[in-house]
Amino acid sequence: VINPSAHLRIAFIGDIVGKPGRNVVKHHLHKLRSEYNVDFVIANGENISHGFGCTIKNANEMFEAGVDLITGGNHSFDKKDILPFLDKYPIIRPVNFPDETYGKGWYILEKEDEKLAVINLMGFFSMPLCDNPFTKILSVVKKLKEDGIKNIFIDFHAEATAEKRTLLSLLRGQVAAICGTHTHIGTDDMVIEDGTFYVTDVGLSGCMDGIIGMEEKAPIKRSTLCLHESLDIPKKCKKIFQTVVFDIENGKTTKSFKLKALDEQALFVSQEAILL
Ligand SMILES: [Fe+2]
Ligand SMILES: [Fe+2]
Repeated sequence: VINPSAHLRIAFIGDIVGKPGRNVVKHHLHKLRSEYNVDFVIANGENISHGFGCTIKNANEMFEAGVDLITGGNHSFDKKDILPFLDKYPIIRPVNFPDETYGKGWYILEKEDEKLAVINLMGFFSMPLCDNPFTKILSVVKKLKEDGIKNIFIDFHAEATAEKRTLLSLLRGQVAAICGTHTHIGTDDMVIEDGTFYVTDVGLSGCMDGIIGMEEKAPIKRSTLCLHESLDIPKKCKKIFQTVVFDIENGKTTKSFKLKALDEQALFVSQEAILL
């Protein structure tokens, strides 16, 4: 029997960058969970450990703060100490990484009778060599549906906006949500089309006044002197916390909005998705 009021509220945080990102998430997560009645918090953790990768220590820090599942991207494997934990923890890497490699590309979160499949997918343009994301995701979604999973969420970790829009066209009406990550800059195109919530990029949580969460000196030298120095997290910065929240009923998103907070200030609704 399908419960007509069956309902899941998800909060998805985009790329958390370094310690400022972890701190701003820790500060706001408790309030987010209690005030907004969130069932699951999912966060992209590919940059959580000093901008590159995710150590098991930092993953545990996020789980203790209230994150239920960590997704990844092109930096998933940057910190090698995470590799043996990928099979035991709710941490996923892109599903179009080779089947033979470490970890898994999707995970099922459960609350009472409700199940949510979370899939991590990586784009093609300017990304490491991986399987075709589009053909791969079609087969994964088909398999999950055959297994009776109706609530499906995809973190699409990609550089190119057109690839992200293409995924929406491919899966419109078939999945509950497609949220973009990787560019670290949030976009204002939140829509719900035939029950599929879509945003090109959620944007980072961390330093908002540097260059996509990093200190500006090294990128400026790269750009003006062709001098490659390693990227660093700013010692001091203006922090932003941002997350999209969406409500799923029977496999479709019915409502979605974005929450932001600057440093330790209060959370506020910055946008609502347009229903198309
Ligand atoms: Fe990232
Ligand atoms: Fe990335």
